[in-house]
Order: sequence, then structure tokens, then C-alpha cells
Amino acid sequence: MRLENKVALITGAGAGIGRASALAMAREGATVIVADIKSDKVDACLAEIETAGGTATGIVADMAKLDEIDQMVSSVVEQHGKLDVIFNNAGVTRRCKLMDIDEELWDWVHDVNAKGVFFCMKRAAETMIKQGHGSIINTASIAGRGYPGTSNVAYAASKGAVIAMTMQAARSLGRYNINVNSICPGVTKTELMQGILELRHQKDGTPIEDLEAQAAHGIPIGRINEASDIAEMAVFLASSAARNITGQSINVDGGLIML
Ligand SMILES: NC(=O)c1ccc[n+]([C@@H]2O[C@H](COP(=O)([O-])OP(=O)(O)OC[C@H]3O[C@@H](n4cnc5c(N)ncnc54)[C@H](O)[C@@H]3O)[C@@H](O)[C@H]2O)c1
Repeated sequence: MRLENKVALITGAGAGIGRASALAMAREGATVIVADIKSDKVDACLAEIETAGGTATGIVADMAKLDEIDQMVSSVVEQHGKLDVIFNNAGVTRRCKLMDIDEELWDWVHDVNAKGVFFCMKRAAETMIKQGHGSIINTASIAGRGYPGTSNVAYAASKGAVIAMTMQAARSLGRYNINVNSICPGVTKTELMQGILELRHQKDGTPIEDLEAQAAHGIPIGRINEASDIAEMAVFLASSAARNITGQSINVDGGLIML
């Protein structure tokens, strides 16, 4: 098992990519901490991991709130004595045209996707520096690399921020044996994507299957991601096999964006 004896904290682990990653990391032997803003989702994910024979505990926390991030990391370290992996995956968006973006949407997206990710990295790094190792994984997006199908400009900017923070944090934390990388998912079948497709369906009546086919169009490999495609990359980056990889943002998108 690739993550045996590792303690891995995953944010936004109640659904989609985070949930798939929690299941995958538990399967690989990690003790997983499932963190999410929604308690029912935390409970459901914990039950799934336990049924599959894995080990996990849950925390309800909002990644837009610094005091909740502090408490989350403190309680993990108190309970488990260490933190080997943090996967800063929680993220939000909704479809919105540039001219309709207001301050409320900008702040909502940036508080979770950019500010939350930074303070999770900083808080986790305090423990990782003391213990002399750690792996920080962030969820960015191909939206941060100019993907034209992005849900909105504020979201693209928040993911560009994650890519930039990943490089700078990797430079600062490498001397402490801490790896910092991010994953840039392409179009991925999750609740987030489902919500975006349903809005488009409501607007112009295009059937969901057609919208899914449109999303797959132009992907060189010819298919959109399952959440498990991203989970596999997260497991790899969390494992010792990735010990010399840092500062990278890796696209998992079937070849949609090639930079
Ligand atoms: N689905 C895609 O196509 C896609 C593509 C590129 C990047 N991403 C990124 O992947 C990550 C996961 O997306 P997903 O598609 O699995 O989303 P999702 O909506 O299916 O799941 C996200 C989870 O995060 C939780 N969450 C939301 N706000 C939170 C907060 N403030 N604090 C803690 N938890 C919170 C939700 O309750 C949910 O359980 C996000 O960062 C997203 O931007 C997704």
C-alpha cells in the first residue's frame, strides 16, 4: 500500500474529487481526515470508507474561515500527532458572464479557492516544518491556464492564484523536505460540474447528455474525467514515488490543455 502510516487531511472531501481521493487514499493505507463544510457529506464519506475497511475521521469546517482552518489542523495534529499530507481541494464556482460578476461572487470564490488554500498551506506547513517532511497538494484547474470553457473569470483567476502559490510555496518549503504541487483537473464528472450543466440546460433547454458530449468534444483522449482520475494523481503526489516532484501543477484533462 502506497500511503501506509500516513495521515492525510482532505478538504472538500464530502463529494466529487475530494470524496474519490479520500476513498483512494484510505484504500492505499492512509488514515484519512475527511473535512467538508457539510456534516451530512462528511458522515456519508466516512461510512463509505469504513465499509471499505479503511480508517478515517471527520471534521466539519469552512475553508473560507481562518479560525476554522486553524482549528481543523490543530485537531488533526492533536489527535494523530502528525500531518503527512494535506490535499487542499475544496473549491466553489458557478457559471457567470464577465459583466455579471459582482463583488459577492468574487469574494465567495476567492475566499475558498485562493485565500483558504493559502492559509491551509501555511497552517499545515507549521507542523510539517517541525516534523521535517510533508506533502501539500492543491486543486487548481485548467481554468487557471486559460481554458476557454471556464465557469467564470473570477474562478479562473482564483485557480491561476493556486498555480502561482504552489510554485512560491514549493520554493520556500523545499528546504524543510516539504513538497508542494497542484493538480489541474479538466472537465470532471462531479456535483460541481453537474450543477453547471443543469443551469445551462435550464437556460437553453439543451439536454444534459448533449452538454456532456459537447464537453468531451475537443478532448484528444475523447473522454471527460471521472473523479477517480484526479484521485489517482493525488495518491501518486502524496506517495514517496513523488518525493522529487515539487512546484508542479499537473493537468489531468485528457490532453485538453497542453501547457
Ligand atoms: N469538476 C470539475 O470539472 C473541476 C474541474 C477543475 C477543477 N475542479 C476543482 O476541483 C475541486 C473539487 O471540485 P468538485 O468538482 O469535486 O466539486 P464538488 O462540488 O463536487 O465537491 C466539492 C466539495 O467541497 C465542499 N465545499 C464547498 N465549499 C466548501 C468550504 N467553504 N469549505 C469546505 N468544504 C467546502 C462541498 O460541500 C463539496 O462536498 C474544486 O477545487 C474545483 O474547483 C473541478
